[in-house]
Amino acid sequence: MVKMPPDVKETLEKQKPVPIATASKDGVPNVVFVGLLKIVDDENIMIADNFFYKTAANLEQNPKISILCYNGDTKKSFQIKGSVTLCREGKDFETMRTWVHGINNKLPAKSCVMVKVDEIYNAMWGPAAGKKIA
Ligand SMILES: Cc1cc2nc3c(=O)[nH]c(=O)nc-3n(C[C@H](O)[C@H](O)[C@H](O)COP(=O)(O)O)c2cc1C
Repeated sequence: MVKMPPDVKETLEKQKPVPIATASKDGVPNVVFVGLLKIVDDENIMIADNFFYKTAANLEQNPKISILCYNGDTKKSFQIKGSVTLCREGKDFETMRTWVHGINNKLPAKSCVMVKVDEIYNAMWGPAAGKKIA
């Protein structure tokens, strides 16, 4: 069980838009920006799938994700790696739809991407670059 420390959550909250990476089952990488990402609690992140195409296909085949954030003021950067559950019904899906439609009710809010945090790495340049922090 991996918990995001406060500085990881603060850095991720300020990252706009957030780059997220997925890969196909054959290992072809794909990176997209998302704006609709929120921290649910210390171990879980919710992402709204409005327009995912390759990302959605990748997550169906390979439910792993990498999320990157950087804050130039604090000079902190982190990679968060997680395991994804895709929800198209149920409590998390309804929470995602209420959140997204509260922002813009024309957005499709197709699917809720629930990320369970597995590992966190320091991604800032310098001697601690690449070190696992959680
Ligand atoms: C600034 C920005 C924010 C975006 N936010 C989201 C988002 O929150 N959810 C979403 O589904 N797509 C979002 N997109 C669209 C995706 O980045 C991307 O275009 C879409 O997933 C299709 O690419 P894919 O085929 O690689 O998945 C955003 C794009 C930009 C440029």
